[in-house]
Amino acid sequence: MAKICTVIALSHSPFMFENVDWWTSTQAMRSYAPQARSDDDATNRRHYLRIQAGLKTLHDVFQAARPDVVLMFGDDQHEQFDLNNHPPFAVYVGGRFSGYKAVRYAGPLGSRELKPKTDEHWASVPACPELAISVLHGLMQAGFDPAFMKGLSNQEVGMGHAFMRPAGPLTGGRFDVPMVPILVNGLFAPQPTAARCVAVARAVRRIIEEYPADLRVAVVGSGGLWHTPGAPDSYLDEEFDQGILQRLAAGDADALASYFDQWTPAPHRQALRCFKQFDGGTGMAGGIGSGSGETRNWIMAAAVADRVPSWIDYVPLHTSPCGIGFAHWQMDR
Ligand SMILES: [Fe+2]
Repeated sequence: MAKICTVIALSHSPFMFENVDWWTSTQAMRSYAPQARSDDDATNRRHYLRIQAGLKTLHDVFQAARPDVVLMFGDDQHEQFDLNNHPPFAVYVGGRFSGYKAVRYAGPLGSRELKPKTDEHWASVPACPELAISVLHGLMQAGFDPAFMKGLSNQEVGMGHAFMRPAGPLTGGRFDVPMVPILVNGLFAPQPTAARCVAVARAVRRIIEEYPADLRVAVVGSGGLWHTPGAPDSYLDEEFDQGILQRLAAGDADALASYFDQWTPAPHRQALRCFKQFDGGTGMAGGIGSGSGETRNWIMAAAVADRVPSWIDYVPLHTSPCGIGFAHWQMDR
């Protein structure tokens, strides 16, 4: 039978993959809330090192778990879906796919020039359609209705950054562990509730554990924590992130989901323009969106792990601003 060999959650901000000079040039193009904190150069450099150390820790954990397959919860940010068709959940059941290894833009964020699709920037990743199809069938049998993807409709952009960016550091840049991508709509209202995400994640765990092949499966949640990239009046809501991390540390996915689903901005922040982008441009009401909505993928990882995490780290990157998080759960006990 298949076995979940490790569970990992991590942010996938472009700031984790670019140097501090890039941070500074990107910062110059962004709009910050009037009270938003600003970090000096020394703090930026300290944060950079801590982020690299976090990636190294998760690389070591991933390698030590010796996964045959990685099942990843991530989102799609106009890479494969658009607002004419955006499912709440989708399972990629196709074969090998490609995408940008990290940041696809050649200059600071906002510049539209794309990097060349050379080996330096573009990778091909093996998939695992057998397990993916079982996950799809199993979810349908359990009463969920995810979309499926037999391939990528936008080959030009490739698989979304939520899946590609973590795969690099976890595999030591080799992109050689077959992946089952599960796309979760965290950004575009109406997004699925975190409670629904927890129910889907628990079904996914059961399906993996009942899968007849002798596979070691790593489960990864990719995205978050707090960020509203490119929005006017951006700030880093550390209180939101700490609320997530406290419930994560307690190993209680239901409490985590209800905190997320009930969260509203503090009264003194409600007029900030960044909240207008929580709908992702759909004009419809929903839950927490923008980059912070990717925190659903952490909640799904926590629901799969269903225990207290072994390690958490958090870097409050006000320069982005983004709450950069790392966590893993030991599953061999
Ligand atoms: Fe993202």
